[in-house]
Order: sequence, then structure tokens, then C-alpha cells
Amino acid sequence: MCGIVGYVGHRPVQEILLAGLEKVEYRGYDSAGVSVLSDGAIASVRAVGELSHLRRAVRDLDTIADVAGQAVAVAVAERPPTAGIGHTRWATHGRVTESNAHPHFDTSDRVHVVVNGIVENHAILKRRLVDMGATFTSETDAEVIAHLVSHHMARGSLIEAVRAAYGELHGQFAFAVMSADEPDTVVGVRLGCPLVIGRGQGEQFVGSDVACFLEHTRDVQYVYDGELVVLRPESAEFLSADGTPIERAITHVDWDAETAEKGGYETFMLKEIHDQADAVAETIRPRTLGTTGVDLADPDFDEALLDGVDRVLILAAGTSFHAGLIARYAIEEWARVPVEMDIASEWIYRNPIVSERELVIGITQSGETADTLTAMRLARERGAKVIACTNVRGSSVTRECDGVLYTRAGMEVSVAATKTFVCQVATMYLLALRLAELRGAMAPPRIAELLAEIKRLPHQITELVAGLNGRLQATAERHAPSTFFLYLGRHVGRAVALEGALKLKEISYIATDAYAGGEMKHGPIALLDEKTPVVCVATDMPILDKMIGNIEEVRARGAHVIAIATEGDGRLAPVAEEVIYVPRTDWMLQALLAVIPLQLFAYHIARKRGLNVDKPRNLAKTVTVE
Ligand code: F6R
Repeated sequence: MCGIVGYVGHRPVQEILLAGLEKVEYRGYDSAGVSVLSDGAIASVRAVGELSHLRRAVRDLDTIADVAGQAVAVAVAERPPTAGIGHTRWATHGRVTESNAHPHFDTSDRVHVVVNGIVENHAILKRRLVDMGATFTSETDAEVIAHLVSHHMARGSLIEAVRAAYGELHGQFAFAVMSADEPDTVVGVRLGCPLVIGRGQGEQFVGSDVACFLEHTRDVQYVYDGELVVLRPESAEFLSADGTPIERAITHVDWDAETAEKGGYETFMLKEIHDQADAVAETIRPRTLGTTGVDLADPDFDEALLDGVDRVLILAAGTSFHAGLIARYAIEEWARVPVEMDIASEWIYRNPIVSERELVIGITQSGETADTLTAMRLARERGAKVIACTNVRGSSVTRECDGVLYTRAGMEVSVAATKTFVCQVATMYLLALRLAELRGAMAPPRIAELLAEIKRLPHQITELVAGLNGRLQATAERHAPSTFFLYLGRHVGRAVALEGALKLKEISYIATDAYAGGEMKHGPIALLDEKTPVVCVATDMPILDKMIGNIEEVRARGAHVIAIATEGDGRLAPVAEEVIYVPRTDWMLQALLAVIPLQLFAYHIARKRGLNVDKPRNLAKTVTVE
């Protein structure tokens, strides 16, 4: 998830951009940069790593310029620059290097651009532009936008050029662009990635997020897909792609800085539950650009790691372990590779046996969990190929493995993992599908079918969260006084049940237990009476009739069944007191959707009890002590 900021106005822009970038730090990044426009030229500074590195690079340039007395630095132009754009990057195309950091620029260095998202047809466009004489300086897909806009500026204004370029770009992106030939103008474009405008007096802001500029203005205009917005100090002009002017109302946000960071939600956890569609989209998009297959190769992951694998071992802790459980079912079902899994803190004391034909997957959102780290180190010492699935670039785990599959959930502030979990699951679906493809375990049309379903997940998540939040608030209210909840599920539904039970206990401090449906009669059934709410994950799957049989057993004890079922499935309503429906997709993928009502259920119960869900007692976001 990259972050974009931009400004045109009357104040020195440099600090406005740097401070704005700090506000989108939560989106996660590996490099950053700013470009500022003054006196008919653009100066740019980029740096790899933390934003402090960018700040230092900007400062160093100031110092050099002071000594040399030349106008090379951002801050030394005669009049401090008052227009500029900035960016935090999370690498997708191209390694983490200064030349791959944004802003990108055209051959004449007169058009600069910052981009979030992906330009799918960048290769074709690049070939054409190179043939016409453009010189590219990065490995990114984003750079093509600077050259394309520059190319079209030969025949028109910046706005016309951006419109012409937009017409040629395919993908999902948002960008902000400026040209040395048109002072005090920044143009923003949105197609599938967030972009929002801040309106000030004689100054305008653009950002990926309201938080980027909230300290300067609370008057906000949202940019919709397929729209351009032209910012000048006195105006923000919205246009459709064909150039038709659009009226856009100004929304006044009365959030304080903290609420802004929470995107207007009452807690980070609720924001992060709502962010899940975007997070999953960001995670799957670069890997699913083709129509038929999955491409996991990127600067951090060499697909050769998947060659000759005859067994998979998944190691993880907590919520990440539950994502691993879903991965186990998907890999076995689709790729027909046997998968073992264990809790990392248990596995390391088993004097474990591993071989070089074994692929070990360590799943850890923080990349710092000591047990998972130790387990991966041990697996590597014993000869296995080890890959990590993590959300944090540069975290310890990335140094203990042979390849990294990053989830792109952005920073997760709430201690309870939500968006990182669904992104882990989505990444594991893609890995399972790729393994199936490489091993010829599944027919290509079936792979294409599953891929199409995976691509629909972000949209389904959006609908699900929007449709269920209110309903689950009411359900949670009814059940908040309960002192014990049992969760049941089978197959992938068991993983979902385990995750739902963990979420509820960790944020509401209510005792929960989670079991495989078929195990209930071997003991836990003794806990049931008419006061017990039993959450049953009963989405569509080949063994749903078995799960329904387990639900009947629960009902026979008089307990209260809350079923999670697939839309259009009429089998649950007759056997459950309450049914919560999730959109229909392939049954294996249904697990990712089924967890969302359980997150919301846990959330609203904890809030009903007045608890601080973002920071539950006794828990920390990162567990680094063995
Ligand atoms: C639960 C939760 C924890 C973590 C566990 C592992 O909501 O967040 O159970 O999943 O501590 O953390 P990571 O994934 O960072 O290794």
C-alpha cells in the first residue's frame, strides 16, 4: 500500500509533504520521496528506508546547497517552493532502491508523478515510449505514467495530457502528477485506489487519506473512480475522463487527529475490519494480473523455491496459525501436496525431522514472533527451504528465510489481528493455486475459475462488512451477557471457528472454546445447556451435512445456535436460532469470508462491555520473548 500526498498553495511545501507522509506511514513502506516545483524546475529527493532517511536526505541537500550556493536543493530556490508531491512506496514492481522510489520523472525531468497501485499494461506502453526515445531510470510500472504524460504534453496542456494518458492506462491506481511547465498545478487521478482532496484558503491538498492533511483543513472532497482533479492554489476542479466538469460537494470532517488516524471509526480494530477489502485487493492484485494463472515472483520471492517440493510444513502462532490451517486444506486439496503443521513453540521442542525437499512456511504478521522465528531458523539449519509470509518489510523473519511472500495489509494498529489474517489467508490461497499449477495438479480451466473467484473476494468483503456491521451489533448486544461461547466447525470451518473463538476471548475476556464439529460429542457437549450460545461455521462445503448433524446435536441439548452460512443455502434456517449469511464463492474460499462476521461479533460484544478492543489486557502486538 503506497501513500500519496500533494500540495499547491502559498506556504513552503517541503514540511507539509514530509508531515503528510508521516501520517500515511501506517500503510507500510520501504522507501519514500518528494518532488517540489519552483521557478520552472522540479527538485526531487528520494531515500530508501524510514521517513527519517528521507528527512535526512532533504536536510543534507539543503546543507550541500548552502555550501555550494547552488539551487540544487529543495529548500534553496529563491522563493521556497509552494507546490509538490510526495510518496511512500511498498515495492511491487522492482526492488527496494532509490531509483525505484517515487516520484518518477520523464526523460526531460519536467514531469514528476507519484503512484499508488498497478499499471497493468506498463510493459507495452514502455516499449512504445522507449521506441520514441524515452529513457527509463527505474524498474517500476509507475514510471511509464511520467513518460506518457510528458509525451502527450507535446500536444497540449498538463490536463489534456493527463486525460490522454489516463485513456491509455489499464489497471488500478491513483496518482498525482505535476509539470515544470505548468507552475502551481497538481493533477490527481483515481481508478481503484483511494484519493481524497483537502480544500484550504488559497491552498489545496491531495492524499491517499484524510489524515495526510487534516492538521491543515477539514474540508474534504472525495475523488471517485474514473475522475481527474486539477488543483491550483485557489481551486480544485473535478473532471470526468472525457473532460466534463463534475460538481463535488465538500464534506466537513470534524474528526480529531486520533479519529482521523482511525479513518473516522471509533477504534482501530473497526477501521481495520473495514480496511480488509482494500488490504486483500492490494495483496492479491500484483500476483493475479493474468487471466489464467498466479505469479508469485517478485523481488522478494523466487518461484524456483517451489520446485521439487514433496511436503509442506507450516509453522505459526495464534491467529497466524489459523491462517496456516486454512492453507493446509487449500494446499492439500488443490496442489495434492501433503501438509503438516504445528504451533511454532511446540514444533521446536520435537527434535523435528525435516528434509531438503520440504518447504517450510513460517506465517507471522509481525515477522518478529520469537517462537516462529526460532522454528524457521531451526528448519533452515536442518536443510529445509524456508519461506516467510509476513506483513512487515525488513522484519527479523525476512532475514531467516529463503523467500518472502508479503501480505500488503498496511500497518495493523489494533492488537487483535484482523486484516493481516485475511491477507495471510488470501496469500496462502494464491500459493496453493500456484503449487497446483506448477505440479499440474489441477486443470487450467479450474485454476482460472478459482482465480476469478479470488479476484472477487475484495468486492464481496466490502459488501459483507457494510451489510453486516449493524446486524451484528444487534446480535452481539443480545449475547454480550453470556459467560461462555462454544465455536464449532469442520474442515476449513474449524479454522474459522478457532479464529472466531480466539478473537472473542482476547478482546472481550469471555471464555470460549472451539472444536471440530465431530469432536464435540467426545467431551465438550457436557458444557452445553440452554444458556450456551454455540457459533457454528456452516458455510457451503462438501461435508456440510455432517456439520448440520453436529448442529442437531447441539440443539438437542437446548443450546442456542448462531450459524454462519452461505447466501442462498436454506438448510441452516430450520436448525439454527440465528443465521448470518456470507456471499457465495468457492467453498474453500468461503473460509476467508466466514471469519468476517465472527470478527464483528467479537468486536461488538467487547464494545458492549465497554472494553478497549485495540489494546486488550495482557497482550502485545508483537510477542518477541521465547
Ligand atoms: C490474535 C493475535 C495473535 C497473533 C500471534 C502471532 O489476534 O494477533 O494471536 O496472531 O501472536 O503473531 P504474529 O502473526 O505476528 O507472529
